[in-house]
Amino acid sequence: MERILTGDRTTGKLHLGHYVGSLQNRVKLQQEYDTFIILADVQALTTHFEHPELINQSIYDVVIDNLSVGLEPDNITMFLQSEISAIAELTVFYSMLVSVNALRHNPTIKTEAKQYGYDDLSYGFLGYPVSQAADITFCNADLVPVGDDQLPHIEQARKIARRFNGLYGNGRKIIKEPKALLSNNPRLIGLDGNSKMGKSLGNAIYLSDTAEEVNAKIKAAITDTNRIKATDKGNPEICTVSKYHEVFNESEYKNICEMCRRANIGCVACKKLLAEKVNCLIAPFRERRAYYENHKAEVREIIHAGSKKANEIGNETIEEIKKAMSINI
Ligand code: TRP
Repeated sequence: MERILTGDRTTGKLHLGHYVGSLQNRVKLQQEYDTFIILADVQALTTHFEHPELINQSIYDVVIDNLSVGLEPDNITMFLQSEISAIAELTVFYSMLVSVNALRHNPTIKTEAKQYGYDDLSYGFLGYPVSQAADITFCNADLVPVGDDQLPHIEQARKIARRFNGLYGNGRKIIKEPKALLSNNPRLIGLDGNSKMGKSLGNAIYLSDTAEEVNAKIKAAITDTNRIKATDKGNPEICTVSKYHEVFNESEYKNICEMCRRANIGCVACKKLLAEKVNCLIAPFRERRAYYENHKAEVREIIHAGSKKANEIGNETIEEIKKAMSINI
């Protein structure tokens, strides 16, 4: 069985954008692959170092979010990045193989630096792609399921693996070159029409939202702003709610657009239909969430067991790469 590794920074609860972009895919992949899920709390520190308590709380949020959508503890290895010493060690060894300029020119680093308003980057933030290469390679992952924003990091990890093998492999591939497995779902826009659903943007539906919260959020979503009265003809092309119907109500999507164009359906009714669909999707998640919320010890054990297994694999990797690098006595 090939191994996949993917995961999330633990900087807050996950939302529908995460579900559409990656979680949904993970649930499918867990059947076909040996699935490793990283809880990237160290990477979370690179931007949230002033709020470590938030990162700590988010570990449980992110684990339960993952389990609630249908990832099965028996199918996956879910582990905490800070618990895996091999990741920290590999990061140091890899840091010699990456130029500062390559990191400075990494498009995702650039975008995120702008987003966070950094003009003087910390060493840790600039270097997190190196640490991410360690996340991926410590367990010899074959594939990394990600959205397109992560492609520069996978490319960086591949370069590091090639460089390492070229320098120290003596003809052998000690570090596996990982491949990206690109999610083909388009990005879910925010409820306010912003191109991205995001926590900091205040435009997200969380997987942990109640049905009432979902109803209220969808009720307030931005539609075609030129459509004032229900009798005005609408333009679904510029309506957030129509974009959501396309994703969460595929079978009725075309019909609803047509009705909107002819003013046969008003925004209130259209939003109600969507809220029903979204709640229908989330209902089984809520059930699983309730179970895990009531069994926190089990959640803790899932993280412990996953981290223990990841450490065993990581320690073997470290032994092998140290031998290859002649860092031993
Ligand atoms: N950088 C990823 C994100 O922001 C999270 C992450 C950390 C990750 N380590 C990883 C993703 C390893 C894939 C593989 O979403």
